[in-house]
Amino acid sequence: MVIINREACVGCGACVRDCLLGNLCLKEKKAAAGKRCIGCGHCVAVCPKGAVSLPSWDMADVEEYEKDRFSIEPENYLHAVKFRRSIRSYEEKAVEREKLERILQAGRYTPTAANRQACRFYVVQKELSHWKELVWQELPGMLEPLREAAPAMAARFAEFVEEHREDPKRDSLFFGADVFLAVAADEVFDGGLAACNMENMAVSEGLGVLYSGYLTRIIGRSRVLKEWLGVSEKPLACCMLLGYPAVRYQRTAPRKPADIIWK
Ligand SMILES: Cc1cc2nc3c(=O)[nH]c(=O)nc-3n(C[C@H](O)[C@H](O)[C@H](O)COP(=O)(O)O)c2cc1C
Repeated sequence: MVIINREACVGCGACVRDCLLGNLCLKEKKAAAGKRCIGCGHCVAVCPKGAVSLPSWDMADVEEYEKDRFSIEPENYLHAVKFRRSIRSYEEKAVEREKLERILQAGRYTPTAANRQACRFYVVQKELSHWKELVWQELPGMLEPLREAAPAMAARFAEFVEEHREDPKRDSLFFGADVFLAVAADEVFDGGLAACNMENMAVSEGLGVLYSGYLTRIIGRSRVLKEWLGVSEKPLACCMLLGYPAVRYQRTAPRKPADIIWK
């Protein structure tokens, strides 16, 4: 899987030292690769001479280190984390395709356990009106079975349905967002991490996000919705809404003290 350009390799051993599985060694002062590889790409990334490639990945995608682009000050980063808010009110403005593509790249580049890279991303923008209609159509039929399994959630959903029936503009599931985004993953944690990076990317693009546990649960319980979205064997890890925020926050929101054990 790993290809070493022996002419370019200077035998520094950086790739050997950084290989998780001990797949690389030095032979006759040049790096040599075996077959125990999870394709993490550390050998590609660490080589000072660009002598390593993984032909099973798109090597044209690899970017060189640029010192000036690592300029996030720690206190600014923490401020951004604290200042991010769940957005439940959106402007009537379409999210540009380039922004969505960068957000998806942030999801794609998020680490996955054992470098599985097995998240699937669903983006609904063009067909969002139809998707919303379908979700609202499906929800009433779920209330009865849900009453036994999760009575509090059933009661909440019943309120949403009632509100929406009285005034279709009241939408406590989609909140007028322009895009619905979901991540499916065999390992739910992989999907959650990807979603978190996508949210940070979206915020840096001037957008707002809402994670929707409600939509994740609703879709997970409906064959019709799963079929429409194309969800198959891989379970949905996270649903998110995205759009230009119509609300501006002036300060951070308070939080409980952190529950930490120091040793
Ligand atoms: C996994 C997850 C699922 C959530 N699901 C919903 C939801 O279905 N509907 C909703 O209005 N907010 C949802 N939220 C938003 C939380 O209520 C919100 O994060 C919390 O109240 C703190 O507010 P903040 O995000 O603005 O800091 C969810 C958040 C997370 C992390």
